[in-house]
Amino acid sequence: MTETPDAARPDDRPSEGGALRKRRERYAGTHPRRYEHKYKELAADPAALEKVRARGMTPAGTHVPILVDELLEALHLAPGARGVDATLGYGGHAERVLAAIAPGGELVGIDVDPLELERTSARLAALGHVAPTLRVQRTNFAALARTLGEIGWSDGVDFVYADLGLSSMQIDTPGRGFSFKRDEPLDMRMNPARGKPAAEWLARVDAAELERVLAENSDEPRAREIAAALTARMRRPTTTRALAEEIAAALRSRLDDAECADAVRRVFQALRIEVNDELGALDALLRQLPGALRSGGRAAILSFHSGEDRRVKKAFAAGLREGTYRATSDELVRPSAAERRSNPRSGAAKLRWAVRA
Ligand SMILES: C[S@@+](CC[C@H](N)C(=O)[O-])C[C@H]1O[C@@H](n2cnc3c(N)ncnc32)[C@H](O)[C@@H]1O
Repeated sequence: MTETPDAARPDDRPSEGGALRKRRERYAGTHPRRYEHKYKELAADPAALEKVRARGMTPAGTHVPILVDELLEALHLAPGARGVDATLGYGGHAERVLAAIAPGGELVGIDVDPLELERTSARLAALGHVAPTLRVQRTNFAALARTLGEIGWSDGVDFVYADLGLSSMQIDTPGRGFSFKRDEPLDMRMNPARGKPAAEWLARVDAAELERVLAENSDEPRAREIAAALTARMRRPTTTRALAEEIAAALRSRLDDAECADAVRRVFQALRIEVNDELGALDALLRQLPGALRSGGRAAILSFHSGEDRRVKKAFAAGLREGTYRATSDELVRPSAAERRSNPRSGAAKLRWAVRA
């Protein structure tokens, strides 16, 4: 795994050895509910993984890739092709892409998250995916052109794909501050070595800016009300639970529990997008895509909310008008009912593709 120098290497990575030396706690019932009790899933015990998947859930420490067949179809992959997975995550899409471009194909897998990338790199290497077939690079996809230059691919690639947002591992792993299902510091950084935790951003933002972020990043219909409530107090929430409780308290008199939970989910999404400058990175990627693709090369982007999809749609439509793309997807590609049932996290996914002229 290599690293481009847009961030310092974090020296505070959790020691996995320490966790392994601990005695396993017993849990009540037939299924472990707490992350730290899911040691069979975390050790990738095949029987344990199968059981969890059969219940329509994502095993701890893994991620179920979304719209895989549709993505492969959009990319027209062939043996010997070379390209970029801009959001490697668990490497679920990458495994299928590597199979489709073998023999002779080469994939560069990018991810901004140094913690998960190290695990994925080891997981894929154990399956035999090593350089030059798979090269893993810790960087932001906003630096796509520079990354291609560094590996000697400035003359272009056959395909680039991105599966935006967070992986299930990032959401489920304790300590990252992405989920309101546990009480922990409100961090939300994909790369904990860069930028500021969400709690610091929230401590300083004014009501107007917070309202804009909630409306733009997650189409929150009660953006003004929530922004006013969260900025009214001297001490603002610094933990996931406190934030979730304050949002619910602001809305409880008018909304039922399910509606409050949806609002909490949208606020968490909006803050995460802001803290990681996800829309800025997506704009940068979309600008660089035409220059990264060879003639006939294909791009595919999987997005998860309207702010992302609007950008992808607009950039592909502009490229088609200007002649940098010769074709784009006419319609959104969405997960089937069967996929949504077997993987509820796929529900909001939208896929669009474009072909370089
Ligand atoms: C939905 S997951 C990808 C899952 C992957 N397709 C799979 O099948 O396992 C998104 C991943 O993209 C990474 N990511 C998000 N924004 C990024 C960016 N701007 N640059 C690089 N990686 C990014 C996240 O850290 C996360 O690991």
